[in-house]
Amino acid sequence: MDEFSRLDEIQKTGLEALQAVADENALQSWRVGYLGRSSPIMTLFSQLPQVPKELRPAVGQRANQVKQALESAYALHSQAVKEASLNRALQSEQVDVTLPGRRFVPGRLHPETRTLREVYRLFGDMGFQVYRSPDVETDDYNFGLLNIPEYHPARDMWDTFYTTNPNVVLRTHTSPGQIRAMRDFAPEPIRVILPGMCYRYEQVTVRADIQFYQVEVLAVGRHITFGDLKGTLTEFAQRMYGADVRLRFRPSYFPFTEPSAELDVECFICGGVGCPVCKQSGWLEILGCGMIHPVVLQNGGYDPTEFSGFAAGMGTGRISMLRYHIDDIRNLWINDIRFLDQF
Ligand code: DAH
Repeated sequence: MDEFSRLDEIQKTGLEALQAVADENALQSWRVGYLGRSSPIMTLFSQLPQVPKELRPAVGQRANQVKQALESAYALHSQAVKEASLNRALQSEQVDVTLPGRRFVPGRLHPETRTLREVYRLFGDMGFQVYRSPDVETDDYNFGLLNIPEYHPARDMWDTFYTTNPNVVLRTHTSPGQIRAMRDFAPEPIRVILPGMCYRYEQVTVRADIQFYQVEVLAVGRHITFGDLKGTLTEFAQRMYGADVRLRFRPSYFPFTEPSAELDVECFICGGVGCPVCKQSGWLEILGCGMIHPVVLQNGGYDPTEFSGFAAGMGTGRISMLRYHIDDIRNLWINDIRFLDQF
């Protein structure tokens, strides 16, 4: 076969092979095979010196034509292959921008959180700070130091969750925080409120749950009187329930206060006439309170001959129920989105 037919053959097989190339990998190996250093056309160039002198210019010219034909066919084809692969990617990685988005549900403040913040604000205006104390308490803090000795019948006032350690309980009220705050501040005067979750092993009803928030109020100083107690709590109740709400302090008993009282507000439901919510009394109890018992002051690190103080404890569940017209207290802690979504 002479050089010219060999060149025709090289061009023909090269162009045919190129037609079958469909992706970038095949393109790469085609280029190595038909235009690379040891490809037929390049081999032929290197053999040019052996071609008889008189034929050499014509063979050389033809070889250049073949090489250029292969190169421009390659350039064209590689363009086509790249476009095709881009189109394939655009197809398969397509994003459907018409798909409706997922709705973003913003969180809400829990009704109890809102009530607590209102309580913080009202007491904050009267100079009270928020003081935190633990949910899990020792028997001593929850009872003993609050003047409720072991086996004392007053313990029956709190149905308690005990743990496997007989000295560790879930606090049944926020009152143990009184001792912690006093031991922290003594001998300085104190004005704090202590909010927190409390736990009682009780029958769950529409009015009572096994967990609930309380806010404890604590003031200790040198000249604190029962008048301060009445003034502070009356001011709070009037700001919370309205300036013209009717209130009454009623004598009561708590081991950690002497004297002790409870504060009632006129029943909002019936306006004081009597209804099932207020058990026909016309009044709703909102908190327990009293002058801190000398034994408790002493346990907190204060000399009861020099210092006095008042304390109060209120559940906020009842307040939330009234503010937000919640008729079943169990809704507060079952975390049902359909309920929580309404606030
Ligand atoms: N700790 C009491 C309870 O949970 C409420 C209470 C009554 C708190 C009188 C007080 C208080 O600080 O002085 O039933």
